Amino acid sequence: MKNSRASLLMCSPTFFDVQYVINPWMEGNIGKVVRSRARKQWDALYRILSDRSDVQIVDPIAGQPDMCFVANAGLKIENLFVPSLFRVPQRVPEVPVYAEWIKSRGIEIRDIPDDCTFEGEGDALFQPGKDILWAGYGVRSSLTSHRYLTEFFKCPVYSLRLVDERFYHLDTCFVPLPGGRVMYYPAAFDKRSRDLIRDHFEPSNRVEVGDEDAQHFCCNAVRIGNTLVANHASDALRRKLEGWDLEVITTDLNEFILAGGAAKCLCLLLSQDTVVPLSERKPVESPISSERLELTGHLLDSGLLNRAMDAVTGAGGSFRVEQFRAGLRHDQTSLCRLRASAPDREALNRVLKELKGHGAVVIASTTEASCQAAPANGVAPEGFYSTTIYPTDVFVNGQWVRAGKQRMDAVLVIDAGAGSVRCELIRNLRTGDRVVCGVEGIAVHTPETVRTEEAFAFMSAGVSSERRVERVVKELALEMKRIRSHGGRIVVVSGPVVIHTGGGEYLAEMIRNGYVQALLTGNALPTHDIELNMFGTSLGVDMKRGTGVPLGHQYHLRAINRIRAAGSIADAVEQGLVTGGVMFECIRNGVDFVAVGSIRDDGPLPETIMDLCEAQAAYSRAIEGAEMILMLSSMLHAIGVGNMTPAGVRLICVDINPAVVTKLADRGSVESTGIVTDVGLFLNLLAHYLGKDRDKDP
Ligand code: ARG
Repeated sequence: MKNSRASLLMCSPTFFDVQYVINPWMEGNIGKVVRSRARKQWDALYRILSDRSDVQIVDPIAGQPDMCFVANAGLKIENLFVPSLFRVPQRVPEVPVYAEWIKSRGIEIRDIPDDCTFEGEGDALFQPGKDILWAGYGVRSSLTSHRYLTEFFKCPVYSLRLVDERFYHLDTCFVPLPGGRVMYYPAAFDKRSRDLIRDHFEPSNRVEVGDEDAQHFCCNAVRIGNTLVANHASDALRRKLEGWDLEVITTDLNEFILAGGAAKCLCLLLSQDTVVPLSERKPVESPISSERLELTGHLLDSGLLNRAMDAVTGAGGSFRVEQFRAGLRHDQTSLCRLRASAPDREALNRVLKELKGHGAVVIASTTEASCQAAPANGVAPEGFYSTTIYPTDVFVNGQWVRAGKQRMDAVLVIDAGAGSVRCELIRNLRTGDRVVCGVEGIAVHTPETVRTEEAFAFMSAGVSSERRVERVVKELALEMKRIRSHGGRIVVVSGPVVIHTGGGEYLAEMIRNGYVQALLTGNALPTHDIELNMFGTSLGVDMKRGTGVPLGHQYHLRAINRIRAAGSIADAVEQGLVTGGVMFECIRNGVDFVAVGSIRDDGPLPETIMDLCEAQAAYSRAIEGAEMILMLSSMLHAIGVGNMTPAGVRLICVDINPAVVTKLADRGSVESTGIVTDVGLFLNLLAHYLGKDRDKDP
């Protein structure tokens, strides 16, 4: 093939005109074409080319003003022709005319399935002397068409994304040259594509053209052997190319530039400088990866769909909507199923990450979640996936498996034998545990509220203060009654402020009446609760009069000491040393309590767990199955619990300090209601609404 005379197809500009706008060059040019001038320019080009190659002609048809741009007919190699699937409807009627010409010469036609677009050689250029195809996508041709090009031509296809509408076809900004060289306009491509080109061609083998050359279509060059024919080349560019032993011929084609085309657009290569004949090539696998995804929610009103789609293209991918069901009323959600594709798996992972951030859920995974073995006890492999509070599915052995023990800041461990997946803290990993790495084969079901920017408005609306407190507490009481009536689980996380502010008696009442199934606390609450029961003080303050008592600071130590002497809080209750209060009610009513120590603790009480890992595990067991968690004035314990709680559990956080309430929301525990108020007053009010027939306001 190499030494035989090159062969080209051209189509005369008999009907050439600008009658519509399908690229930015055509804007403002409708009706401006001077056809006689176009004819002269085309004839000059024809003469240059026919002196050096065998040029064949296809006859144009009336009504198709762009038909002279025959590069967009399709792509031909040897005896195989792949016709275009135009993105632009205006040019579709050209297709059967080219097909007729091709067929009448006994050339085989293979069609690309019409779920994609492909604008022929305009977007597909072979590297001379190599069996490599460079293919453009992003404006006219779709990425997925490259997969078929790989299959049909059995050669690697490098996908380059075009990001500048003015350089809408690859042949306007990229010229593969003999000797493993290239001339191109970098600004026409996205970063990944530029990197790909730079990785492929050594600096000494590439020429990056500037704006002036590019805008005058220097890259829209036809190459015959070592001759390049183009509308324009600056002196510097010409010298560079001549240094590579190329002959550069320029010929004025400005009439065609009115329609956004020049030399290369006006030709289709009928012969290619490839190496191995098609019949001797082995199949090549395309690196293009895709995944089917589903997005639901207020996709239209919230602008979520737009943002998601921008995210896909921004990450170098493309998408195709396969199904769309719009919510018809304001309160109805929409559903969108789409196929997201990217030039390779790595790029697809970036796309998926973006989309998942917008709440998309993978519905058909083609890839298993990838895992690596934990290298040591308590150590995760470097690329581990870190969990969120939201329900998470993992694609294992060809199916989706819901992860157990969902919590944030954990890793996913696959138990292949049991076919199950669980969230596990890094410190609890055993050497060899199979830990999920990367984001492939993971579907996270986020509620819509966390995806939209409005979510933040929603969350702050969830922080109530002043007048709204009464209404919120009343609703809370109703919710707690509902949970109690079906035997559900309510967990209270509480700090000692509850006792200091006089809320102890109300909390005790709630425990007595079955509204609390577990109490999670530190060392201080039990201490001051017992101090109050024994001495009438909380940290030395007389709770009846609200004033400090002389030498009052010692009472909490005396309380601790008595409990230590008795053996435990339960023993003290048994022995009649503790006769009322929060801890008394817990013991009497068999309510689990977990007390967790800290560096500042006195004592501690015998029950207080001083080992933090053990304490976290005990907390985590206690919240299992909880429907509601009430967090009362304890920042550290509240955040700790927030971190181990899966989404879907009502979190109520009460604190006088708005920062604490906000902090909890910021940790990603967004299903929280924050109430900014004095916790003693809050408990008083809550106990009031929880009391019999007390749904009236106080
Ligand atoms: N007006 C034509 C279009 O927008 C120009 C085609 C140029 N062809 C090319 N291979 N770049 O389709």
